[in-house]
Amino acid sequence: MTSALRSPASRPVVPTAVPLGDAVAERAAVYAARMNAGDFSVALRAGRLAKPDYVAFLALMYPLVVGFNRALIRSISKVDHVRRSSFVRVLAKQLEEEQVHNQLWRDTLEAFGVDHEALYDDLEAYLAGFDCAELDRLTESVLSAVTRGDVDDDDGAGSIFPNAPFPDAVLALYHQLWIGASRDDIGYWEHFAGQAAIEMIIFDVVSTSILPGICGDPALDLGRASTAWWREHGEAPGEENLASEEKRHLELSRIALNRSGLDAATRSRVLHRAESVMRLFAATLLCQPLAAPSDALAKFLR
Ligand SMILES: [Fe+2]
Repeated sequence: MTSALRSPASRPVVPTAVPLGDAVAERAAVYAARMNAGDFSVALRAGRLAKPDYVAFLALMYPLVVGFNRALIRSISKVDHVRRSSFVRVLAKQLEEEQVHNQLWRDTLEAFGVDHEALYDDLEAYLAGFDCAELDRLTESVLSAVTRGDVDDDDGAGSIFPNAPFPDAVLALYHQLWIGASRDDIGYWEHFAGQAAIEMIIFDVVSTSILPGICGDPALDLGRASTAWWREHGEAPGEENLASEEKRHLELSRIALNRSGLDAATRSRVLHRAESVMRLFAATLLCQPLAAPSDALAKFLR
């Protein structure tokens, strides 16, 4: 499984003639395909994923749900609200939607008896033990490991962030998103492309693997509250489609990148950063444990 991460990650081959948004979408499709082919997705689609493993997945991914939103909020301040007034309005609308979506994930955790406040407390307490330079170094180490295909996939705990309550790739991406959103020397489009790429990948993986895997499974589908986040971010075959807003949003992101008018050097930086984000995001799913680390998660179960 680890070697599977290497081939799509190491060689972006999108030619410069391709509009930027299309280039990001092409790379997102490559990573989504990898994630759909990973052990976790295959087991889920085949109805072989045990409920504790699914609940562990929901809990272990929670930092990314809140981390994405945290970065979105911070990144909007990078946009010139006078010259790009209409774009800021689009981003403000997205933020409003993401606040709702964050709550949907919490609803899902509650449906499965997971104490999300305790999860968030642990995340904050753990990260407070590091300064920004240390988090930068750890994040770079995870990125290097993911690129080499060395990320620990045995228990999902990882071995780069010391004594971590969440997988390395999750913590690294949480920090990587914050860096892109907050650091002055990283341009807005560099952050936006990674954010858009994550959303594109999510739509593909949710439609291809998550919804087909959980819908109708009495252990994983506990009703509306337990599936609403997924239904907002993907299409379940043959079911009511709630995700049309999300599809429209993805299309707007692609068009915004296509029209960004960046010079070649900036475009290259944007694609490089988006690639790193996609690499880490793919690892968060590909390295999900298939035997839930029950001891670590037991304290979060109500
Ligand atoms: Fe969302």
